[in-house]
Amino acid sequence: MTRPGSDHLQPTASPYDAWADHYDLVEGDRTPFLDFYGSLPRPGDRSVLELGCGTGVVLAPIHASLRAAHPGEPIHAVGVDAAAGMLDKARLIFPEVEWVEGDLRAPPVNGSFDLVFCCFNTLQMLPTPRDLGMAFSAARALLAPDGRYAFDIYRPNLDVLRRERRDSLSRSIVDGARRLELREDARFDEAASILHLEWRLVDLADPSRPIAATRYAIRQFHPDEVRRLLADAGLRIVADYGDFDRSPASASSRKQVLVCAPA
Ligand SMILES: C[S@@+](CC[C@H](N)C(=O)[O-])C[C@H]1O[C@@H](n2cnc3c(N)ncnc32)[C@H](O)[C@@H]1O
Repeated sequence: MTRPGSDHLQPTASPYDAWADHYDLVEGDRTPFLDFYGSLPRPGDRSVLELGCGTGVVLAPIHASLRAAHPGEPIHAVGVDAAAGMLDKARLIFPEVEWVEGDLRAPPVNGSFDLVFCCFNTLQMLPTPRDLGMAFSAARALLAPDGRYAFDIYRPNLDVLRRERRDSLSRSIVDGARRLELREDARFDEAASILHLEWRLVDLADPSRPIAATRYAIRQFHPDEVRRLLADAGLRIVADYGDFDRSPASASSRKQVLVCAPA
């Protein structure tokens, strides 16, 4: 089945095209993501789809472990991303996976998958609940009858969101002989429920001129809204965590980490 095109959708991946060369360096250790999403495939699973796969650092090891668990059997692994620059990296480093350029609200992918996932707050790139509902419906349509759909986003925390920051140090990064800093401006548009971030990557050898810069608009989605949209999309929650340590979701949780199945 061919899915509708994505020409009419507001682009949400452009910050990553500008940042693709620096993405993996800046994001650093991805162990919690790899541990959580890597634990989701069940013994019979042979197909996996990541929506918003970026440079492929999470999907590729899952694909490798599925292959190791089922030697000689066909394993279907597909990563979809809207940023060509991110996919170029993925194709170069992990040529064994199928990488597809497209929008996660209307992924240009056919078939059904045992595991569909969308990790690292990617769904917060979507500007409205309507977009989030489209993403949930698209994931649901690509799930095998007993498949699982997993994702993580932040749980909105107004105390944190309302703290405006100017040129604040977000991360220190050592890259060989280089000493880098990620510097951040942050402003929360409470009416639109969008956190605006501006990132600058600075080499301390010449801090006056950033090596790279990008801007993110990060939509905050309340847990009640997420639950309603999941139900509307025909998805039921089978695991509801407050973080990657699998602590139960609560009002003080940092994240919303959900595993869903067809309703
Ligand atoms: C936070 S990164 C996560 C990448 C990868 N999942 C990881 O964990 O490293 C978000 C990714 O989502 C992609 N993205 C943003 N909006 C998208 C959309 N509407 N459709 C497809 N990909 C999108 C970006 O290009 C970027 O690669």
